[in-house]
Amino acid sequence: DKGNHRHFMAKEIHEQPEVVGRTLSHYVDLANGRVALPEPLPFDFATLSRLSITACGTAYYAGLVARYWFESLARLPVEIDVASEARYREAPLERDGLTLVISQSGETADTLASLRYAKAQGQHTLCVVNVPTSTIARESSAVLPTLAGPEIGVASTKAFSCQLTVLLCLAIHAGRARGVLSAERERALIDALITVPGLMAEALTREAEIEVLAREVSKARDVLYLGRGTSYPMALEGALKLKEISYIHAEGYAAGELKHGPIALIDESVPVIVIAPHDAVFEKTVSNMQEVAARGGRIVLIGDAKGAAEHGLDTLATVTMPALDATVAPIVYAVPIQQLAYHTAVFMGKDVDQPRNLAKSVTVE
Ligand code: M6R
Repeated sequence: DKGNHRHFMAKEIHEQPEVVGRTLSHYVDLANGRVALPEPLPFDFATLSRLSITACGTAYYAGLVARYWFESLARLPVEIDVASEARYREAPLERDGLTLVISQSGETADTLASLRYAKAQGQHTLCVVNVPTSTIARESSAVLPTLAGPEIGVASTKAFSCQLTVLLCLAIHAGRARGVLSAERERALIDALITVPGLMAEALTREAEIEVLAREVSKARDVLYLGRGTSYPMALEGALKLKEISYIHAEGYAAGELKHGPIALIDESVPVIVIAPHDAVFEKTVSNMQEVAARGGRIVLIGDAKGAAEHGLDTLATVTMPALDATVAPIVYAVPIQQLAYHTAVFMGKDVDQPRNLAKSVTVE
């Protein structure tokens, strides 16, 4: 049932404040301002020397965001790969190390195979899944559910924001277990996390502006997405969302990589979507925006009022997100990224819930 929405994707985008809130209440002990995982884990983060993450598509991008969180909040080294590579690489995995797999469906063939590979190497396995009865959930030594509810649209939206929510809670848990996150810092992070559903609701109110912008984007043949830090995987996710439902060619790049090649593509016909909350690397991203502007590129900033006031460049549009704690930015910024892809595809008359050549769950390699 799509409710009063035209597509499942629109319904699922709009459900995010609610399902992220539900997921949070499953992982956070509000009274004590700390993360409380729904069940004890069969391994100790304190003794891990590294974490291996594997997943496909959007779930992989959630893992890429989480790498920044595990490294900064828990000082835990992370290696991450797409499952279709991880399963064949013959990577040496330490006995009693930890492999984390992320999957909405819990049935993705390559993700399941990499989980089995990790088990055969003697690793503990932990999964973040949306379907608790799935094969991946059954075969993992521990399961952290995302409480997104059934996701029907082929483009993953609410499962992604719930994956990010669970992964941030897990990184906080790991940070405490490894003695690198003080109770005070944890409380501050929880304070930031509990504002996320409200911030997502606020982000959703930018829809009319995004619809106008989508008309511009729909005319483009190529679109570039740029971001730094956790906004880099968000750029990858933005490009994937746009290409899978609108069929416009889109690429996500680490902003700093621009001058190592993709800058050659920039001219007036290529919209450059810059994802940049006012965080520790914002200024660095502004210098990349200057490089784009100097070549006549048309910049769309998905950022906040503070950043918009600071950069001083001409932009095609600015999508203004609420001010927030930079750690939680990816969860909130998922909203405009999804809405831009959605409205571009709708404007172009594409079948957003069932894009050509794609299946909701990829159970073949
Ligand atoms: O069910 P999974 O999360 O394992 O699926 C992984 C990918 O197939 C999936 O995220 C895909 O990339 C989506 N269509 C992206 O929107």
